[in-house]
Amino acid sequence: MVVHVFDTPAQVAQAAAAVIAAQILQKPDSVLGLATGSTPMDTYRELISLHRGGVLDFSRVKSYNLDEYVGLPDGHPESYVSFMKRNLFDHINIGSYSLPDGRARDLQRECESYEQAIKDDGGIDMQLLGIGNNGHIGFNEPGEAFTYSTNLTTLAQSTIDANKRFFDSIDQVPRQALSMGIGTIMEARSILLLALGEAKAQAVYQMIRGPITPRLPASILRSHARVTVMLDKAAAARL
Ligand code: F6R
Repeated sequence: MVVHVFDTPAQVAQAAAAVIAAQILQKPDSVLGLATGSTPMDTYRELISLHRGGVLDFSRVKSYNLDEYVGLPDGHPESYVSFMKRNLFDHINIGSYSLPDGRARDLQRECESYEQAIKDDGGIDMQLLGIGNNGHIGFNEPGEAFTYSTNLTTLAQSTIDANKRFFDSIDQVPRQALSMGIGTIMEARSILLLALGEAKAQAVYQMIRGPITPRLPASILRSHARVTVMLDKAAAARL
């Protein structure tokens, strides 16, 4: 694990965009794994500005998102597909993008076909991750065992609490999601994890210094050969 600590969230975004840009410049047909949430938003803004400046061409890039809520109506502004369009896809020339379909009738089958589609595209070259306050990656919540492939997951109460800021009330936060599994994430050829703010400091500390355990899912990343972690000072405060 290579760990960088930057003074500000803006620097994290610039550094993260630089790493993703280098990936695309070196392999224009890269398969990217992407994340939603507050953390990558400025990184996406940096990528959009590199695209607008004529530096980055996404036309051969394919992307797969980590996760999607189950059960939100089509076009709901807080669905992850809406988030990704608003914050990235509508502003770049992405070759293709996929998210798990949280409205699929057969969710188990949707998980299997999502996993297969990633494999058919040759696997993920670079996976971008945030980290939950509870140490989750994707929606792989703390538990007794690591998940393997894309799965239907029940959100932890701490995740529902953390995500209620995006909804009018806590009752509207979906309770379930489809998420790439820990196995899916670990199969990515390289991983870039970002964390911002003091609310992440404990999870970041446990990821880097604690035991490797499914109770802190991000800790498994220590056993991956190519992981870069970018933190602002607040998220690194306990290291
Ligand atoms: C998002 C995802 C989650 C978030 C995490 C942090 O697609 O899979 O694991 O990365 O919950 O969320 P933010 O960035 O909003 O703090």
